[in-house]
Amino acid sequence: MFDKILYNQLASLEYIKTVLPLELLDRFTNDRYLLGHSINVLNFSYMLGLELGMPEKRLMQVSLGALMHDIGKLECCDSILMASVLTEVQRKAIQRHPTVGARMLSEIPMFEEITSCIIFHHERYNGGGYPSGVRAEDLPVEVRIVTIADSFDAMISKRPFRSSIPRSLVNAQNELVKCSGTQFDPDMVKIFNKIISNNTIEIILGLSEAVNCVDHYIAKSCSL
Ligand SMILES: [Fe+2]
Repeated sequence: MFDKILYNQLASLEYIKTVLPLELLDRFTNDRYLLGHSINVLNFSYMLGLELGMPEKRLMQVSLGALMHDIGKLECCDSILMASVLTEVQRKAIQRHPTVGARMLSEIPMFEEITSCIIFHHERYNGGGYPSGVRAEDLPVEVRIVTIADSFDAMISKRPFRSSIPRSLVNAQNELVKCSGTQFDPDMVKIFNKIISNNTIEIILGLSEAVNCVDHYIAKSCSL
């Protein structure tokens, strides 16, 4: 599985290199936290999509959508991203990042098919998310995948600007279960948790290898 993940990451990175405006590509690849989180979300989304039996083309689309899901955060100022407690105004500003991200990519026709992953990745299965309140099966499968992958990575990762302590894998799995049917698609949570339980050590090793590889890739791209 890990060869495929690595191939998929590099293919996605190679792809965005050819279609993203240079200035946007620079900002994305220089934001180490955003890039690392995005790559982890890509990994988890790919694993879930693969387990769900998605064909290769859709797997690439979900991977790309996962990689770009938070691109709108590049437009949020650091004072908001760094705040431990958000004011109402700051919260509203950060909640615009899915719409902003979709708009940033809207002029690039090749991203048309992944826009839903960007604009809907903070929607909830019960309709309580933002920006539109779309619910359950009205949310495309790709979005329901990215939502789980995004939240799982946020729970297990050390966040640079927030004081929260990363959860253990088991603890994060339990949280997914707790939010099944409200935040997440319950059937997908079951499948995702099975993948995590069956692969724990390999996943952690896979991620660290992947990050090294991506560092190498970026260094190589920059020197071209
Ligand atoms: Fe987000």
